[in-house]
Amino acid sequence: MRVLVLGGDGFCGWPTALHLSARGWDVTIVDNLSRRNIDNELEVQSLTPIRTMGERIRAWKEVSGREIGFVNMTVGKEFDRLVALIRDLAPDSVLHFAEQRAAPYSMKSARHKLYTVDNNINATNHLLAAIVDSGLDVHLAHLGTMGVYGYGTAGLRIPEGYLKVTVDTDNGPAEQEILFPPNPGSIYHMTKTQDALLFQFYARNDALRITDLHQGIVWGAQTEETRRDERLINRFDYDGDYGTVLNRFLMQAAVGYPLTVHGSGGRRGPSSTSRTRCAASNWR
Ligand SMILES: NC(=O)c1ccc[n+]([C@@H]2O[C@H](COP(=O)([O-])OP(=O)(O)OC[C@H]3O[C@@H](n4cnc5c(N)ncnc54)[C@H](O)[C@@H]3O)[C@@H](O)[C@H]2O)c1
Repeated sequence: MRVLVLGGDGFCGWPTALHLSARGWDVTIVDNLSRRNIDNELEVQSLTPIRTMGERIRAWKEVSGREIGFVNMTVGKEFDRLVALIRDLAPDSVLHFAEQRAAPYSMKSARHKLYTVDNNINATNHLLAAIVDSGLDVHLAHLGTMGVYGYGTAGLRIPEGYLKVTVDTDNGPAEQEILFPPNPGSIYHMTKTQDALLFQFYARNDALRITDLHQGIVWGAQTEETRRDERLINRFDYDGDYGTVLNRFLMQAAVGYPLTVHGSGGRRGPSSTSRTRCAASNWR
């Protein structure tokens, strides 16, 4: 089985690439290393010493005997290259992790909002259009987020797939199927709600096979495969933009600093600013 892992240098993509490779999948990573550039922009770095892409892949070859391919490409900007890659490799599946994933980063300034929307939505649309153009039957799996549902859904049983609704029309009630009403709390989460609409459209219009997982926060720095060599270690972010709340608590506890949260510390702050900051810090 052959798989393309878009965003395969990232926190979720790298261990997933190793996991699949260890189980016999033929893996090719596509990544533009933008996450590493964002570390440079923010003047922070992973607590764990992550290695360059080349070192990672060489280390994996040494410990497993298996090759992982790497293509440096910006998904969402290089459409013809993407179509050619899909045609050339004819993957059974594409895993799409190639997005800007920090809610706080997406809300820092107008530039960060523009970047996040441009990067995430174009990446998804290019990928979908490229799969259609390739003419191949490729299963696309994407990591979305539970944050698309907003903060008022605690305790609600949100159905998988589509919601059946009845709409009153002049000719009486009409049955419809819709996505669960989105209620994003940040620009980042908003891009994930747009992704879901794109998936719905391409599934209906082009019969693409798509699985969109609305994932909660992922924790940890090591997996069975990354433990096999220190050069395979995954990233551990603890800064104010990319560090998830548990990572920051762990670091604060380790250095004897009081555990702190953004805003009021609840899901809803007294002002819209603290509400956004708080929401952004707690959800991925
Ligand atoms: N980490 C979590 O807890 C979590 C939870 C839910 C959903 N997700 C989703 O999973 C995906 C991966 O998250 P992550 O934590 O691994 O993030 P990450 O930032 O560590 O990894 C994303 C990778 O994609 C690359 N990338 C970004 N835009 C790209 C583009 N246009 N072209 C090519 N490469 C690009 C980056 O360089 C990076 O290596 C994201 O879509 C995120 O929203 C993550």
